[in-house]
Amino acid sequence: MDDPAMPPPGCPAHGLGPGGLRRLYGPEADTDLAGVYEKLRAEHGAVAPALLHNDVPIWAVLGHSENLHMVRTPSQYTRDPRQWRAIIDGSMGPDNPLAPVVTFQPMASMVEGDEHQRLRGAVTGAMALLDHRGIRRYINRYSNLLLNDICQAGRADVVSQFAEHLPMMVMCHVIGMPEEYNERMVQAARDMIRGTETAIASNAYIMDALMRLVARRRAKAEEDFTSNLIAQPAQLTDDEVAAHLRLVLIASYEATANLIANALRMVLTDPRFRAQLSGGQMTVPEAVEQSLWDEPPFSAMIGYFAKQDTQLGGQQIKAGDGLILGIAPGNVDPVVRPDLAASMQGNRSHLAFSGGPHECPGQDIGRAIADTGVDALLMRFPDVELSVEEHELRWNSSILSRHLVELPVQFAPRPPQDVMARPMARVPGARNDWSVSSPAQRPAYPATPAPQPAAQPAPPPPAPDSAPVAASVPRQGVWRRLVTWWRGY
Ligand code: HEM
Repeated sequence: MDDPAMPPPGCPAHGLGPGGLRRLYGPEADTDLAGVYEKLRAEHGAVAPALLHNDVPIWAVLGHSENLHMVRTPSQYTRDPRQWRAIIDGSMGPDNPLAPVVTFQPMASMVEGDEHQRLRGAVTGAMALLDHRGIRRYINRYSNLLLNDICQAGRADVVSQFAEHLPMMVMCHVIGMPEEYNERMVQAARDMIRGTETAIASNAYIMDALMRLVARRRAKAEEDFTSNLIAQPAQLTDDEVAAHLRLVLIASYEATANLIANALRMVLTDPRFRAQLSGGQMTVPEAVEQSLWDEPPFSAMIGYFAKQDTQLGGQQIKAGDGLILGIAPGNVDPVVRPDLAASMQGNRSHLAFSGGPHECPGQDIGRAIADTGVDALLMRFPDVELSVEEHELRWNSSILSRHLVELPVQFAPRPPQDVMARPMARVPGARNDWSVSSPAQRPAYPATPAPQPAAQPAPPPPAPDSAPVAASVPRQGVWRRLVTWWRGY
């Protein structure tokens, strides 16, 4: 006889849908998606049948090596959603909450072969021309601007007041529109990703800013990513330039904000880090890397699509089937991590940036923003600690990502710092056990710490034209060198 206490089969609370397949959405998945993946792994192994919103069937790829095989085998799997049966037969229609991420757009992330090489080549060519050291200086400066806003209060939510702003500030600067960075831009990016009712208006707001930027740079090139992109031999159209600027802006905003928040949470709460930090072993880049294993900023990607009948993880995959790139479940695959508590120090083979031809080309920038931002915060507030109990922290989860709602912290109030001072100047009295950056990655410090400025309001962000990113400094006189140093170069 049926147990009256059990929900009937097919009930969303049960987590099962048609055919007894597990749902990757609904109450159970919303509260414990990792648990659903582990049930799937126990029931089916490395590749499991599951259901997306509206009960669209999908393969969840859970194994580390199966995920890598999929992304590295473009002859069998494509990122182009036009080859997905669910798109072709209309079962993944425009009303599906996942439609925005699976509707085809002519962008590097959704095309294959020669077209992929052309579009991705333009993005990577434009990135290669960026002055990475200059960008690090800006990351540090923007970090300190944000920290100035919170330093006197002695408490803050470092998700909404730091992690969500820093990547947008940096990326607006990198693409050449620092003046467009504002609360509305952050809000718009957040809206687009979360698929709220205002997502379409937010997309229009961002695209409008990007199209104006493209027009300005067509008229007159500057030293920034947008001008670099326009100048690439791929000869992108204005629409293609804007679409790739949006791809870069949104990919970096969401993922890097998550990475900063996750890494900070880990550093603040995980006894492994506290212990290792006080022993001077663990650097911020290592903490960031561990968080890329344990809480990857994108938990999954939808998706990859089978171009032909094939096999993966013992399952028969049919041409046109959809597969989820299971970043979070692949990172905890017991085959590669039999002991989840073991440190992954020195091992970068996590799936956070995927792999194969579509592997994230912005990972160095993402890592630099997270490393430098977390480091700047710990340097300014060496006494920072959580102001709530760890078990009170809440996450917003979806198939695609899992982010901290808030990370409330407290620290002794301090006066603002002069953000134009030499980057990474040490705060006198900073506790040594937070000195977590790897010495190899630190720029050389002056022998004497830079003077502490008196409390004063933060100056505005550097003007775009007065402070170009790329800087190869020719031999200069003393005064020029002093001015150059003062402006952070
Ligand atoms: C910590 C931050 C980041 C994470 C975790 C991340 C992760 C990813 C992942 C998982 C993909 C999908 C790969 C696939 O389709 O198999 C991707 C693609 C991409 N990312 Fe990132 N990303 C980050 C930051 C950035 C930044 C800062 C940029 C730009 C400056 C960027 C630009 C891109 C682009 C252009 C693609 C599409 C590449 C292609 O399909 O060929 N990402 N990223």
